[in-house]
Amino acid sequence: MRVRNNFKICLESKEAKGRILQMSSRIVEKDKTRLFWNVQFIYELVLAKKELEAFAIKYEVDSNFRGIEILEIPSEKNFSNRTSYFEKINGLPTLYSKITKANITRSINQYLTHWFYPYKGKYHPQMIRALINIMKINPGEIILDPFIGSGTTALEAQLLGIGCIGVDISEVCFRVSKAKTETVKHTIEIEKEFEIILQKLRNIDENNNEKVIPQIQQLISDITNESVQNFFQVADLIAHSDKARRKKKNFLESFIKNSEKMLTSVKDYSRVIQENNLTLGEVNIHLGNAKNLQIESETIDGILCSPPYSIALNYVENDKHALEALGYNTTEIKEDFIGVKGSGNKKIDLYNRDLIQSYLEMDRVLKPGKYCSIVIGNARVNKEEVPTVETTINFFLDKGYTLEMNVDKIIFGLYNVMQKENILIFKKP
Ligand SMILES: C[S@@+](CC[C@H](N)C(=O)[O-])C[C@H]1O[C@@H](n2cnc3c(N)ncnc32)[C@H](O)[C@@H]1O
Repeated sequence: MRVRNNFKICLESKEAKGRILQMSSRIVEKDKTRLFWNVQFIYELVLAKKELEAFAIKYEVDSNFRGIEILEIPSEKNFSNRTSYFEKINGLPTLYSKITKANITRSINQYLTHWFYPYKGKYHPQMIRALINIMKINPGEIILDPFIGSGTTALEAQLLGIGCIGVDISEVCFRVSKAKTETVKHTIEIEKEFEIILQKLRNIDENNNEKVIPQIQQLISDITNESVQNFFQVADLIAHSDKARRKKKNFLESFIKNSEKMLTSVKDYSRVIQENNLTLGEVNIHLGNAKNLQIESETIDGILCSPPYSIALNYVENDKHALEALGYNTTEIKEDFIGVKGSGNKKIDLYNRDLIQSYLEMDRVLKPGKYCSIVIGNARVNKEEVPTVETTINFFLDKGYTLEMNVDKIIFGLYNVMQKENILIFKKP
């Protein structure tokens, strides 16, 4: 009773009412430009600030680092459409806050088609969008990721209207990257083909994987549209991963579920494009070798990649089940993968040599005056640290590049072999 009375007195006092109003308007003011709630690491705050600076925005940060007041903004709409770390600008939701809502997974960064295939070692899409902004790459220009992996750079560039060339030595990565970025143009064909596939699989004995797996493969081979075929091939690769890693026995059920979920995400992507009037960037994914790029010299506007940490994470072993499903002999293909050949010191020597060869290629294809961003860490092999970050910095400095940014990013998960990565940005002279 007493508490109630006190509350009443509090509300009735004019002075108190004024104070409450003042407080709430301050909250609204502070809320006008807001970071995403999940921004929590120092490197993210650094990138958020660098993003503001790339757009020549004058700002002030409050003492708890979350409140950012925009003092002067040359082009509010442009920044609001491009930013990756801000959820609201001057009270209005940013484009990225709308895009990231289209997410059928529990992981906040696996929106749209990013979740296709459980690829180990993919980088954070939000960080990639920020790096593209910090490197000042614009719609119509072309970004290269010579180690495209699961296609994170390609999808983020595509969403910003920026062209992307992605290269990977692994056919699994080639197919997954294509499926993430190509299928949105084929929603209707995929839906129709799915109905046909379901019809044809109707009477099959679902407990007999020996029959189910080749039967699905045959149906996929019969599809004539290459993008549609690849969509179902990736659904099939995810089912192989479910079987090998998650011990899911019923392959047919996995394949159908994966196809359904993938289709939902592709439709979501299509809806996001329409609702936000997006013009997508053109994506070209190639199965190839970063040590020998089939790209003309000085034609690329920006490079963004995370080279293999194969001495820490073996990409061939990781995707063995999927590579074998595509008909590869994993012992033979190891020769072309950077970092998985040899053993002991020889392995590290080969890794360094291959890495340098890929850097020479990046330097060759990048236009002068443009940026190259590399996310890389030192791995520990036989308790010794391999100084890959230093090797990388020295290579680019020797070539006359300037080191524009070097930010630490702590790694969770690979703690035994890698404690942190460095996010590096170089500028070509
Ligand atoms: C760290 S992962 C890249 C992950 C990617 N950033 C993502 O978000 O999915 C490195 C990639 O390099 C690829 N790779 C290894 N050797 C290669 C080579 N010689 N040429 C091109 N790609 C290679 C591996 O297959 C792997 O996908």
